[in-house]
Amino acid sequence: MEYLRLFEWYHENKRDLPFRKTKNPYDIWVSEVMLQQTQVESMLPYFDKFMKKYPTIHDLANAELEEVLHTVQGIGYYKRFRMLKQGAIYVDQNFNGELPNDYKELLKIPGVGAYTAGAIASIAFDLPHAATDGNVIRVLSRVYGFEDDFRLEKNRKKLNDFNTKLIEKAPNYNDYTQSVMELGAKVCRPLNPKCEVCPLKDICVANKEDKIEKYPYLSPL
Ligand code: ADE
Ligand code: SF4
Repeated sequence: MEYLRLFEWYHENKRDLPFRKTKNPYDIWVSEVMLQQTQVESMLPYFDKFMKKYPTIHDLANAELEEVLHTVQGIGYYKRFRMLKQGAIYVDQNFNGELPNDYKELLKIPGVGAYTAGAIASIAFDLPHAATDGNVIRVLSRVYGFEDDFRLEKNRKKLNDFNTKLIEKAPNYNDYTQSVMELGAKVCRPLNPKCEVCPLKDICVANKEDKIEKYPYLSPL
């Protein structure tokens, strides 16, 4: 991985987003829950409203579920907010309202899976744990030319292990997670990726082979 080129691109091009101005793990948690099924532009008003209404985990843990759901009315995929509220109760009871600075402990929180735990660990706590979402799968499968079908859980697991090795070698764990996601959102898009401005174009297998549309690879069913 060309970390330094990637990070330079990220620092020059990253969007100014509210959840990038903080290292508060709770803010990162809420933002990542929202971003899993909702695009950045659509989630921003909900994120602002949510953080104003529930500024701490303790506030969320003590809120009425119906009121929480009303606060995010319109965003969709409401089960994630039921889980977030359950997770907040767990953290309030077990960790005095503070997210633990430990990947394995994060994974024990209801609703927090490998993706969310990796995002909180790397972005908020600067720990080398991978957060492998759809953007990351697309970028890494293109850069490394992986011909695995990432609709299969075993292949996603394998890619998450590979991404863990990449983040372990990165000079900065927060920048690594966020720069790969930002590259996937803004440059290495599903259709019409902007390879000519991409910081990884010189090492990218899909670009060199001129086979970008082949990745992420889908096996014939
Ligand atoms: N999608 C999920 N997490 C993200 C983040 N931290 N920045 C941009 N896009 C994202
Ligand atoms: Fe994606 Fe193109 Fe960059 Fe490769 S060169 S990572 S395909 S944008």
